[in-house]
Amino acid sequence: MTQDELKKAVGWAALDYVTPCTIVGVGTGSTAAHFIDALASIKHQIEGAVSSSEASTAKLKEYRIPVFDLNEVDQLAVYVDGADEINRQMEMIKGGGAALTREKIIAAVADRFICIADASKQVDVLGNFPLPVEVIPMARAYVSRELVKLGWLPEYRQNVVTDNGNIILDVHNLKIMEPIKLEAAINALPGVVTVGLFAARCADVALIGTPDGVKTIKK
Ligand code: A5P
Repeated sequence: MTQDELKKAVGWAALDYVTPCTIVGVGTGSTAAHFIDALASIKHQIEGAVSSSEASTAKLKEYRIPVFDLNEVDQLAVYVDGADEINRQMEMIKGGGAALTREKIIAAVADRFICIADASKQVDVLGNFPLPVEVIPMARAYVSRELVKLGWLPEYRQNVVTDNGNIILDVHNLKIMEPIKLEAAINALPGVVTVGLFAARCADVALIGTPDGVKTIKK
């Protein structure tokens, strides 16, 4: 099976976690795109979606799935999204698609976070995938210097402006032994909007695409 077929399998498997007549939290990326395809097949059974990016919003609208502003929604039963890396504790690196801030906000609102990923995303230690940090543009150099002082290697993601009008610094070569602590430390730097570590709010369920089928891991 190709990696895309594994992503498709988990995207469709996530339908089992969608409660009828509710608004569904929808992530961003190629795996989440398969979930949107799947969601379209039951669109008459749901009220609509809240979306974590302009790209996912556009795809939802193509399917004529109603997209709600998160401020109009009091409660979300599930948020379904991919990950760049996920460890055994269900902590994740996300933001390869630069949508980390909206993803983190919707994940915070949702009762359950369903992570959908192909098996290549499973790791023992987070940090091989560059850790994205969304930063207010005027703070780019300051935040970079602070990250370097801490011994890390940030790289400005060229030609990328997030949906919120900010820039991304990718921090390379990390071995993240204490994800919750690191998440809090980076988030505390002035100018940082969000770090793409999802540890304080990790996944509740992971659907992992393998050649032997979709494996379900529960926290
Ligand atoms: C988007 O910003 C990310 O958090 C994605 O969820 C993550 O990059 C996974 O993307 P793919 O599903 O495309 O691998």
